[in-house]
Amino acid sequence: MKKYDVCVVGLGYIGLPTALLFAKSGKKVLGYDVSADTVKEVRNGEKGKNEPNLNELLKECIQNGGLTADTTPGYADLYIIAVPTPFKNERQPDMSYVQKAFESVLPYITEGSAVVLESTSPVGSTVKYICEPLKEKGFMPGRDVFVAYSPERVLPGNILHELIHNNRILGGVSEESCRIIKDYYKLFVEGDIELTDANTAEMCKLTENAYRDVNIAFANEMAKMCQAAGINAWEVQKLCNKHPRVNILSPGPGVGGHCIAVDPWFLVSQFSDQTHMISTGRMINDSMPDFAVEQIMGILGDTDRKISVLGITYKPDVDDVRESPVLKIAEILNQKGYRVAIHDPLVARGRFSNADLEECLKDSDMLLLGVNHKAFLNLDLAFVYSLMRSKIIFDTRNFINKEKAEQAGFEYYLLGCGYQKTN
Ligand SMILES: NC(=O)c1ccc[n+]([C@@H]2O[C@H](COP(=O)([O-])OP(=O)(O)OC[C@H]3O[C@@H](n4cnc5c(N)ncnc54)[C@H](O)[C@@H]3O)[C@@H](O)[C@H]2O)c1
Repeated sequence: MKKYDVCVVGLGYIGLPTALLFAKSGKKVLGYDVSADTVKEVRNGEKGKNEPNLNELLKECIQNGGLTADTTPGYADLYIIAVPTPFKNERQPDMSYVQKAFESVLPYITEGSAVVLESTSPVGSTVKYICEPLKEKGFMPGRDVFVAYSPERVLPGNILHELIHNNRILGGVSEESCRIIKDYYKLFVEGDIELTDANTAEMCKLTENAYRDVNIAFANEMAKMCQAAGINAWEVQKLCNKHPRVNILSPGPGVGGHCIAVDPWFLVSQFSDQTHMISTGRMINDSMPDFAVEQIMGILGDTDRKISVLGITYKPDVDDVRESPVLKIAEILNQKGYRVAIHDPLVARGRFSNADLEECLKDSDMLLLGVNHKAFLNLDLAFVYSLMRSKIIFDTRNFINKEKAEQAGFEYYLLGCGYQKTN
């Protein structure tokens, strides 16, 4: 059976670009994914169209044979595991994907192989899900098979650039593991590669995301206070940030994606007695869709109205709707009885994005700006005005210029500013 240099397990947002950068550096790479559709898309060079330069690199690596995609694993010197780690009911981490992924490559592992877990995982996972099964097979992890945990910190929308330029943490289970696996990453990583142990690396990833979540929660709590006081939260943010040691993040409709909205729960489930601030922050961010709906209902009142949601993804300029707070807002509005139309130019038309711009806005009573995609920068407000029945804008991102909106004849409302017109 053919032996590859690298086998990347899971060809999703993280696995595919990682596989491509190894292929670009000259390695023969096998991309293994359980999803036949994903493998087909990769083979046909169709994946990654919304990620800068990814699709071009995919086509190049498929054509020159640097990347092979398959639904079965194979022999390789290095295995990178990049499968999902969502949470289950009761917000417990679901490690079954990692477990199954490693079980499926274990028969191909030989002495001298290296394994890196990249999936975001609870502290102790590398030892539990990689080292323990290796031991059961008679290998000494860190000596016979080199093992490390190396988390991803990339920003969707800029993944290739960040995979190359970000600093990377590499937590090996032995010094030799660190040394050998670092040499692989050095093939494409231009940032620093910081060496540590696997537990510390796992804790770093979860701590980074919990830090972001708590800071966003602070901004959202400020927005709630400002709303209650009839003050413009964005003005407070701007003025407070003139202080040399204050940097408040922007409030918003909540936190989505499958990282920041999920990973802090891993810490809460593992360290329940030590994570009061982290769990409170998570709950504040999860409450923001209801907070936005309360404001919207205060503006519109009667539920026999049409609301046009522009942007449904969890953040700007990506096609990912996982855990999107705007999706939750749309769902709650639907349940309340509003007619909700959704337009997102980055999401394929279907359940999540169900209308083109014109259809979405036609006879509408409110434009709800959900996500600040660049594509909405040149929104023609006169055109929008001509389509809508009631001329009301509710902006969850402080994205639409208030003065321009008012000049165009709209009533303009901003999340976290009370129901009155903002100053
Ligand atoms: N997407 C991000 O921006 C990001 C950033 C940092 C960390 N992470 C972490 O990286 C990991 C992967 O995330 P993602 O966004 O790439 O996920 P994804 O859902 O985009 O991709 C995962 C892929 O793994 C495949 N898969 C599932 N089980 C498998 C198995 N047993 N064997 C082989 N393939 C399997 C799926 O079919 C899918 O194609 C997660 O732990 C995530 O938290 C993601």
